[in-house]
Amino acid sequence: MARGKHPLMKCRHCDAKAVVNMRQHKLALCGPHFVEWVHKQTERFIEKYNMFTRDERVLVAVSGGKDSLALWDILLALGYRADGLYIGLGIDGGLSYSDESHRYITEFIEARGGDLTLHTVDVAGIYGASIPDAARLTRRGREKPCSVCGLSKRHIMNRVAREHGYDVLATGHNLDDEAAVLFGNAMVWSVDYLSRQGPVLPPSHPGLARKVKPLFRFYEREMAAYAIVRGIEYMYDECPHATGATTIRYKELLNQLEESSPGIKLQYVLRFLKAREQHGLFAQVREQLDLRTCPTCGQPTTNDGACSFCRMWERVNDRRIEQGL
Ligand code: AMP
Ligand code: FES
Ligand code: ZN
Ligand code: ZN
Repeated sequence: MARGKHPLMKCRHCDAKAVVNMRQHKLALCGPHFVEWVHKQTERFIEKYNMFTRDERVLVAVSGGKDSLALWDILLALGYRADGLYIGLGIDGGLSYSDESHRYITEFIEARGGDLTLHTVDVAGIYGASIPDAARLTRRGREKPCSVCGLSKRHIMNRVAREHGYDVLATGHNLDDEAAVLFGNAMVWSVDYLSRQGPVLPPSHPGLARKVKPLFRFYEREMAAYAIVRGIEYMYDECPHATGATTIRYKELLNQLEESSPGIKLQYVLRFLKAREQHGLFAQVREQLDLRTCPTCGQPTTNDGACSFCRMWERVNDRRIEQGL
């Protein structure tokens, strides 16, 4: 875990060996001091960006990966009211990716005495087809099911948060995710996304939860280190469909830059947010966004009529009937 030229680097606060060296902060810490630092930093970010208060109910979207399990662990340690949501996508990939992911979440809960609330949504059971099958049955996912998957996850997260009255929906996006997505959006000047991307997304519709990313200032390797120090077992593999995805290539590119300029990834994201706020960048785009309500599910959409999620699943069901599935 320790990185850099000094394998025996000491913790800044005690004599123990450092397990993590964060070059961008010029800070090396041992396990216990690192955990303490992560907890304090997360609390500071939650307050600084007005993400949520201790009275509000938080729904943590847990995938079984290190980031979202670490997030749930941190929020519980800090005493927030945090429940989990797992969406069973039915992704197989030869290693039963979804089942494995679910198992890590169950183990996480058992390791904490079993007394945690987890909402589980089985996509195939509820909507009639797994994500890869839905993608195959529609033209949307001819190559990869990722767009069907993203659309469905967003919808289900909103739905569960609304049905169970959660104030906030928290995801495990880390700094590497944010920087790569920002890079991708800026690459094609997607002003729509650039106007909204950030650590807090206010609800666009009454009844919808606020979306927050409490880990957005932590590097991915810091979250991996956190999970290991805390003994959290997690799904190590990426989704089998993610291989070759552009975000992965952007992450590699940004890591190359980070190697020679420690901290550049963090500054890239933070300065973007500051510039947008201070100079009102993309404010007009945000105001012009014409959001309507889907008549079928009641969620926001820019479509005239049914939202993309409802249209997509309607097509899936039509195909299933046609094919006698
Ligand atoms: P990804 O889009 O896979 O990079 O995941 C980003 C975040 O979305 C994760 O940190 C989780 O908070 C959430 N997430 C991803 N997949 C799932 C899932 N199957 N069930 C619940 N939450 C998920
Ligand atoms: Fe959704 Fe891979 S296609 S996680
Ligand atoms: Zn220490
Ligand atoms: Zn809809």
